[in-house]
Amino acid sequence: MMNPFRCQICGETYLGGSAPERCPFCGAHGRWMVGAAEWVRNGKVEMCEQSMKDCLAAIQLEVGNAAFYKCAQKNAQTQVTQAIFKRLQKQEMEHAELLAEMAGVPEEDLPEGDCAGNNDAENLADAHAREQRAIQFYLQVADRAPERRVQEVFRALAEVEAEHLKISNVYR
Ligand SMILES: [Fe+2]
Ligand SMILES: [Fe+2]
Repeated sequence: MMNPFRCQICGETYLGGSAPERCPFCGAHGRWMVGAAEWVRNGKVEMCEQSMKDCLAAIQLEVGNAAFYKCAQKNAQTQVTQAIFKRLQKQEMEHAELLAEMAGVPEEDLPEGDCAGNNDAENLADAHAREQRAIQFYLQVADRAPERRVQEVFRALAEVEAEHLKISNVYR
């Protein structure tokens, strides 16, 4: 029997027998996947100037990483690295979109990004550095944000980026 679930971080829906281990869209941990009836809409969050500044910077970071992953995917040398970069591109774009909704700003388009061409090893090393930067920044944002929802979202995203970091560790 398929049941409706919804991600408390990105708002995407999922139909399945049970809640997935991770949100298939933003990668949030399965504890954020709730039954559709229990899901709480957060939408735009009223936030202080610093949190808004942090959110806008995070959107640029996510969009930049998504563009990088798109380039890495197009140039991937194996089906395995292509699969990794393809999903990371989508997840980072999903992050940019959920942050835009939280900040109440329009969604960004995915720009053309640069990467190290068809050098998978170098792209994985770059991915590693990018994810590390994201984790550090997001934990910093979560620590200084006075808004509960901003804290919650940035901690959830830092956790997702930590999973990305593990992927780049295994395959590089
Ligand atoms: Fe999600
Ligand atoms: Fe991200």
